Amino acid sequence: MTSSQPEVEAGDADGPTDGAEIAAAVSAAASALNERLEERLGTDRPIVTIMMGSGLGGLGDVIEDPLEVPYDTLPGWPQPTVVGHAGRAVIGRLDGTPVLGLSGRVHLYEGGSPSRVAFYVRVSAALEIPCLFLSNAAGAIRDGFEPGELMLLSDHINLTGRSPLFGPVVGDEVRFPDMSAAYDPELRSIVLESAERLGVTLREGVYAAVHGPAYETPAEIRMLRALGADAVGMSTVPEVIVARALGLRCCAVSCLTNFAAGVTDEPLDHSEVIEVSKGVQADFQRLVAASVARFG
Ligand code: HPA
Repeated sequence: MTSSQPEVEAGDADGPTDGAEIAAAVSAAASALNERLEERLGTDRPIVTIMMGSGLGGLGDVIEDPLEVPYDTLPGWPQPTVVGHAGRAVIGRLDGTPVLGLSGRVHLYEGGSPSRVAFYVRVSAALEIPCLFLSNAAGAIRDGFEPGELMLLSDHINLTGRSPLFGPVVGDEVRFPDMSAAYDPELRSIVLESAERLGVTLREGVYAAVHGPAYETPAEIRMLRALGADAVGMSTVPEVIVARALGLRCCAVSCLTNFAAGVTDEPLDHSEVIEVSKGVQADFQRLVAASVARFG
């Protein structure tokens, strides 16, 4: 990585769409972030990038000896606009394991290109961070799954109608990535075992990704249930698709924040989503820390 950076406009809502321009923007952001990684971790490299979903950004506060890097100091980094997404990278250690924490992401419904949504995954790969631990808030569809519980993703259904790989191939990415084990079986076992050891309830299921931002109708939730979805949310899947095209190992945990529309008579409310995920944060943090220690 060189320190000479191509000019990339920070805060550009859509960002570049040309493959070479995306690669240049990724390289510029990776170069800037790499300097901060070296400043805090020396020659150690994070073994995992942890994306903290809605209301789960508190994990950033338990990263030891943290170096905080606001997203707006990194060239070309997509700026989140949603309440509950602070927008900072946190470099440090979790129970001694070097990590790159990311608090705040952009979503498809914010209007940028799908490639913007996956920008940080490309940067993680450029930094040679081999694992990606994603988290999100999701509505519970499956009978017996309750708000306030965590769910490990076993698989997903992409109903966003979009792909971050649409368009020219970027760098060394695989054109047709295999998605038959998108959520790494070994990482999943580690997370499940960690949950059991910690006494944290961890469901396992299929996540349906929708575009949003409107929540679903009860009829749509009946359709998702019939399709085999156990939970529904508006993130994560674009990132996993790019991660697989780059050979990163993924795992993801949903915080079930509400019953999906029509499962009960309760209306859905974003502030409740944030409240419930904050209530689960302590368990989420213990689970992530115990798991990533075994990812290396
Ligand atoms: N639907 C979609 N996205 C969500 C939900 C939901 O019910 N809860 C949290 N994110």
